[in-house]
Amino acid sequence: MSKKSDVDCFFSPKGVAIVGASQTPGKIGHEIVRNIKLSGFTGGVFPVNPNAETVLDLKCYRNISDVQAEVDLAVIAVPAGLVEGAVRDCVKKGVKGAIIITSGFSEVGDKGLEEKVVSLARPGLRIIGPNTFGVFYAGSRLNATFGPGKVLRGKTAFITQSGALGLALMDWTTEEKYGVSAIVSIGNKADVDDADLVEFFSRDPSTSSILIYMEGLRDGRKFFEASRRAVRKKPIVVIKAGRSARGAQAASSHTGSIAGQDAIFTAAFEQAGIMRAEGMTQAFDWIQALNENPAPKGENIVIVTNGGGLGVLATDRCELLGLKPAELSNDLKQEIQAITPSFGSVKNPVDLTANADDALYGKVLDLVLRRSDIDGVIALFCQTANIDPTLVAQAMLDARTRDALEKPIVAAFVGGHLSQVAYSRMLEKKFAVYPTAERAVDAMYALMARHRQLEHFKAGGGAA
Ligand code: COA
Repeated sequence: MSKKSDVDCFFSPKGVAIVGASQTPGKIGHEIVRNIKLSGFTGGVFPVNPNAETVLDLKCYRNISDVQAEVDLAVIAVPAGLVEGAVRDCVKKGVKGAIIITSGFSEVGDKGLEEKVVSLARPGLRIIGPNTFGVFYAGSRLNATFGPGKVLRGKTAFITQSGALGLALMDWTTEEKYGVSAIVSIGNKADVDDADLVEFFSRDPSTSSILIYMEGLRDGRKFFEASRRAVRKKPIVVIKAGRSARGAQAASSHTGSIAGQDAIFTAAFEQAGIMRAEGMTQAFDWIQALNENPAPKGENIVIVTNGGGLGVLATDRCELLGLKPAELSNDLKQEIQAITPSFGSVKNPVDLTANADDALYGKVLDLVLRRSDIDGVIALFCQTANIDPTLVAQAMLDARTRDALEKPIVAAFVGGHLSQVAYSRMLEKKFAVYPTAERAVDAMYALMARHRQLEHFKAGGGAA
């Protein structure tokens, strides 16, 4: 990382104190200590609780000021009435960052207490929260959350304004084999906000993309300026809740956010070069494609399928999203024709017919991937009675290896149990794979959007 910022302490601290560490399993102050201990974090871990001698075999301190070692991060999990005192103690100790887990601040209408806590902390102590479940950062193996203990390492930093959603996604991203490079539950954003984190993750070498679940913004200008700089280095995908009037109302009572007029957000995201996803499925589909593929170098996409119907659906979706399946050159058509059944099609979509086996998929993918006039491939497979989807999956993985990730390739496996097995294997091997043709096209759309953005930057344009 090139330059240190004052939020680095939240991700790679030398020492972490847990204020409100508890001996009682199930209590938040206990679970946080357990997660930090089990995550493999190698810095100092200092439970603080005047009523305990040890927590999980770690020496417990009466007050943070009793810790002799350097503490640059504190996780505060005491009731709201004790937070002020805990923050004062952190300032005295010279702590640089505090994650305030405690609820009961602006989200329930107590803005005054929240502002007081922030003003006590300024200027030396930065605060994440209050009302957060914490921070996970794979780079330093720090799991300072009360979420799941096991989180799979991946390439996306996830910033979430919803705690519950973030907690659920911690588990889900592990289950689905995506993983994350970081998760930050940003809570009420009393101090550290999305902009600070976007700036940090844009410089973080272990992060390839940034995903934000947002309900509202306090300082739009700061966020959009930080994002305009960040998208030059890595893509940002946002799920902005509160599209509808009722949704906006719900966001306001959830985190006290003013959701703002949705159309204004849409325009501002576009101008800043942020990709706005409709919801979680689309956001993760895009992120997966962006993480596992290079952006295409041009606009020429080819669809390879064993099912005419899937090919048609994919073509329809391409048209809707402004993707143009390429006109194949005559020599490429001839090369494909020479190895495919006569009743197949060498137009785009290339239809290999229901008899297509793994060997044919492999050969055709090699042919299209090595062409300089093809920029990306959408490979579709429809389960048939006689072909094993897992072999076709392996053929796709091998073709991608031979191509050495020069060109983007996304896939869809449509079918029953065996297709799901194939799909899971590809996910494990970090191949952007989807259960429908439409979602595979959406994934290619995200890659194409990134290509257009990078071209725009190359041509000297600003974000958008
Ligand atoms: N310094 C350090 N620890 C102290 C303390 C002090 N000055 N005073 C008390 N403690 C200890 C308590 O003794 C207790 O430890 P124990 O279990 O060993 O007795 C521990 O701090 C916690 O205090 P307790 O009164 O038991 O509170 P709690 O654990 O029931 O609740 C919160 C504390 C922070 C979890 C709760 O107030 C809260 O905000 N919960 C919601 C959190 C949440 O949902 N956040 C948003 C997620 S998205």
